This record gives sequence, structure tokens and C-alpha cells, in this order.
Amino acid sequence: MEKPAAWNNDPECGHAVASAYQTHYCTYIRVPRLLTLQQPQSPDELILIVALQWYELWFKVLLADLHAALNEDGSTFEPVKLLRRGVALYKLFALHADLCESIIVRELALKKSLRDANARGVSQQFAQIAALSAQLARRWQKPSAELADAVRDYRAHLDAFRARYAKFLSATLKPSPPAPLSRRKERRQARGNLPSYVEWLRLDELLALQDGIKSALREEGKESQGFWAPEQIGADENMFIVVHQCFEVWFRVLLDCIERAIPLLQRGEIRAATRGVRRVVQIQRLLVQQIQIPATMLPLDFMRFREQRVERGNQVFVTGLSPASGTESYQFREIEIVSGLRDDAVFQKYLQGKDILPIRLLTPRQTERLKQTTLPEAFRAAVQARGVEKLDALFTPANVANPNADLAELADTLLEYDEFFRYWRIAHVTMVEKMIGGKSGTGFLGPEYLMETAGIKIQEKNRVFEERQVRPRFFEDLWRVRTRLGTY
Ligand code: HEM
Repeated sequence: MEKPAAWNNDPECGHAVASAYQTHYCTYIRVPRLLTLQQPQSPDELILIVALQWYELWFKVLLADLHAALNEDGSTFEPVKLLRRGVALYKLFALHADLCESIIVRELALKKSLRDANARGVSQQFAQIAALSAQLARRWQKPSAELADAVRDYRAHLDAFRARYAKFLSATLKPSPPAPLSRRKERRQARGNLPSYVEWLRLDELLALQDGIKSALREEGKESQGFWAPEQIGADENMFIVVHQCFEVWFRVLLDCIERAIPLLQRGEIRAATRGVRRVVQIQRLLVQQIQIPATMLPLDFMRFREQRVERGNQVFVTGLSPASGTESYQFREIEIVSGLRDDAVFQKYLQGKDILPIRLLTPRQTERLKQTTLPEAFRAAVQARGVEKLDALFTPANVANPNADLAELADTLLEYDEFFRYWRIAHVTMVEKMIGGKSGTGFLGPEYLMETAGIKIQEKNRVFEERQVRPRFFEDLWRVRTRLGTY
């Protein structure tokens, strides 16, 4: 095992891999670099930066898709597919707008200091989307019924989103100063030396992280000796990279919320901890819907960049996504660890499984995490500190006064977190099966492993692991209370 070779001086992820130049999730998605692009002054600012970066990442997809669609002559399904993806994204944006309105506008933007510190500006990408989409209606002389419907739907959803987005921006950012674009110095003075929107969100760097770094072409069965950055990536691969990045930025906030909830619980500040977990649930709600976006490409479109084979003479050269895999998302693992899976023997064995996977899953940071208090532990300690012996005693019917109402509310919110985590596992494996059927995954585990983790289909004999990979829920004890309630 060795360190993955560095790409473009990106920070190290801490993984160990079988071969330095194998395609690796952290290199392909540029995760460690991506996570340096939020430098918040406060946890509240982190949420605002992530929310805006998330939009900008998806705007990049919308723009690339619009350009690609407008380049099509309308004789194939391609433009319909791309415009339908736009509609799916605007629907996702509606959910994101809910999240932004409840967490950022109602909870945070009330803090004047946060709003005043923000850069002024507008999204150049969104302005371009609006301008390009105006061309859609005139682009095809005699569009098919599907294409005409897709154009109509696209424009209706864009209009609906535009209004909500403008409202969000005006609630969180100062308006752009009126000076003309070219007068940079004056604009900066007018901003009172605040960074511009582009600088504050590090947009130049953020929007250059979709370069699709894979292992260089190699003979089948041989190790690669370098990385390969394609000259240009297609619209689907652009979406595939961005969707992972959009998960990773919100994973960062999710982890931050859990990390902050633990000491609050330790100090007995139950209502504040509950607010943090409620934010986690709102993020999960978004992530469950977001995981359906990759299925906006057709399975065969995915195969075009998942596996690439080039024949030269008698020799076949290969590259592609394998062995990179979502299993290598260190933030996802960290969420599982801090949410309590740390204590599960099978999960521990999986994390340490040195010989099974072409990667060692534990990074030094995660190894450290294994030693720290988890969310379920902090919850149980808070219940004990209140002198409540059995979890069942936390609950009363709504019309009976409850001396532990704050803990009962927390318990319900934790259960909801567990619920949405399970939805994510199910939504992910269902999307995966739609995309690749029963094929082996690029990380060699495949949908059957994912079904086991979600507990929805257990293999007679697991292809890779000795033990079943069913993941316990984070709060099994709270689920058991549900069975007992009212049966005494
Ligand atoms: C076309 C889209 C996708 C396909 C076909 C796919 C496929 C798979 C497969 C087959 C696995 C099992 C490991 C393996 O054999 O590689 C896996 C694991 C995983 N994927 Fe995906 N995936 C997709 C998109 C995503 C996205 C957008 C995310 C978001 C971060 C994601 C996150 C994960 C995670 C965290 C795991 C590990 C799950 C666990 O160990 O419990 N995947 N994926």
C-alpha cells in the first residue's frame, strides 16, 4: 500500500492505495482541495458559503448541459435528456431553497453581522443560464413532441426557481454596487474592501475542479504509471463529478453540525443540540433527493466514461473510474463513525479490511475519530445525567405534561436522522441498480453489498466479505422503544 500520487499539489487525503496512480475517488472528485475552499469565520458562515457554492456547482452543470443541448440538431434523445436533467435540478433546487430559507434566512440572516460581512455580487453563471435558455424556444424548427415538452418544462421550472433564488440572494447578500464592471478599483471601494462574490466563494478554483483525473491508459492487468486529465469532459461526466462534490460540501456541514451537537449534549444544552440535529435532518432530506440525479444520464452514457478501452494494434489499453468508488469518501465514513457505527464489530472489520479493497479506508483523521465520543454515546449520557433510567420514560402522549419534553424531542429528531440515513442507503442502491444492474461496482463490491448495508437483501453467500455487511442503525435502542411503547 502507498500514498496516492499528488495531483496539482492537492492536499493529501490520508488514504493508502494499492497503486499510486490508480483512479482514486479523492483525486477524481478533488475532495481534499474542494474542502479547502470554504474558509468560514463562523459555523453560520460555513453554511452560507456551502449553500452558495452548491448552487454554483450545479449552475456549471446547467450551463454545460444547455450548451450541449443547443449544439444538438434535435434528431436524437440527447437534448431531451439534458433538458429533463435541468428540470430535475430545478426541482432539487426547490428543496434546497426550503433548506436555505429555514436554516439561513430565518435562523442565520437574522444576525446582521453575518449579512454585513458578506461579499456583494451576483452569479455570472446564473445570468448566462437565463440568457441561454431564452434561445431554447427558437433553436429547433420542428422539434419532436418530447423535445417541445422538455423546452416548455425547462423554462417554466427555471422561471419558478429564478424568483426564489433572487429572494434568497437579497436576504443574504448585499446588492451589487452600481459601478460598471470594468472599474474594478471603484467597485472594490464601493464594497468597502469586502471580497467580491467570486473571491469570497473561491469560484475560479471551485469551478476548475471538474477535470476528471483518472489513471493514465495502461495495458490490461498492469499498473498505471501516471494520471490522465482528459482535454475536455462530456456533459454527463461533468454532472457525475459535480454531484459527488455537491455531496461532499454538504457532508462537511453535516459533520460540523454533529460535532457541535456532541459537546452541547455533554453540557446539558438539549434544545441547542436538537436544533443542530434538526439541521442535519434537513440536509439529509436534500441528499436523499440529490442521489437520484445521476440517473438523469442513460446507463450507456455512464459506461462511456466508466470504462474506457483503446485498441492500438494488437494491444488493448484501458482506463476508467475503477477502482475508485464512493466507499472512499472519507467524510461519509466519518459521518458513520461519529454517528455510532464505530462500535459495530463488522463495520470495524470492514474499515480495517486491508486485503479486501484496493484502498485502506481509514485515514489518520478517522483513526483519531474512532477514539472520540459518538452522537449516540452523548445522547445516552445526557439522558442519564437527567436521572432517567429507561429511554421509555422519556415519552408521554402529547396531552400529558412531560418533564423531559426537551429530551423526547431530541430523541424524535435523532430517530428522524436515522430514518433519513436509511432512505439515503435505499435511494442510492436503487439508483445504482438502475444504472449498472447487478454489475460489479468500480470498487468491486457492487449493489449486493449496498443492499446488505441497507438491510434490504441479504446474500446467501457474500462474494467479497466473510461476514454479512448489514449496518446497524445509529439508534437501535430508540427504535426498540417504539415496539414497547404502550404495551405495558
Ligand atoms: C452512477 C452513479 C453511481 C453509481 C453507479 C454508484 C455505485 C456504487 C457502488 C456499486 C458502490 C459499492 C462499492 C463499489 O462496488 O464500488 C457504491 C458505494 C458508495 N457510493 Fe455510490 N454510486 C453512484 C453515485 C454516488 C454518489 C453521487 C455518491 C455521493 C457521495 C455515492 C456515494 C457512495 C458511498 C458513500 C458509497 C459507500 C457506501 C457504503 O459503504 O455503505 N455514490 N456506489
